[in-house]
Amino acid sequence: MPDHITIAVTKGDRIVAQQLALLAQLGIEPHDDLTKSRKLVFTTSREDVSLLLLRGSDVATYVEHGIADLGMAGKDVLLEHGEQGYYQPLDLKLGQCRIMVAGLQDEAPLPGRLKIATKFVRTAKQYYAERGIQVDIIKLYGAMELAPVTGLAHRIVDIVETGNTLKANGLVAMEHICDVSTRLIVNKTAMKIKYGIINALIEQLRQAVD
Ligand code: PRP
Repeated sequence: MPDHITIAVTKGDRIVAQQLALLAQLGIEPHDDLTKSRKLVFTTSREDVSLLLLRGSDVATYVEHGIADLGMAGKDVLLEHGEQGYYQPLDLKLGQCRIMVAGLQDEAPLPGRLKIATKFVRTAKQYYAERGIQVDIIKLYGAMELAPVTGLAHRIVDIVETGNTLKANGLVAMEHICDVSTRLIVNKTAMKIKYGIINALIEQLRQAVD
């Protein structure tokens, strides 16, 4: 619909609350509690705005295909998605953390070719390729910290926020790959055909972030 805006937000209790706090500053408040409801589509206090609740990587896909006009997703997820098919006009500065290389604190001498466990396969591949270092990437879906501890991999590429998870598992952060935060993404076609309303929302969000 030309005068309707769909915004995809990323699932996760804490990050949802932060995204909703930002949207509330724009007068956009869902009629249901996103953290409790089983719904995936939410109407809001603004008749012309609805929300979709999705995993971060699906936020990018829905925005790329124009089902959602706007989306909020972590830079880590966007890097893995390939950052294609949408604009990224704004850093929402939520969920700030880093993607780091980490390894065992008491690391044994390493072989020439490292095994790297990560769920950020694309980011890890690019990081090592840019440095001309050949590695074997092992794709994991969670609990990356276990990989060096058990000998599955020599090092991991993972999100570090407080560093507590690394520390609790005898690991240390070794190399900084990039900073991560939640970004606003916008479908390219929607930006053209709904320019007025989308641009107004971007400017309101920019002020809310600042
Ligand atoms: C991330 C990451 C670490 C943890 C780091 O996991 O994979 O396990 O956070 O945070 P810290 O430095 O504050 O200890 P997340 O909680 O996002 O869940 P995940 O297992 O889905 O990646």
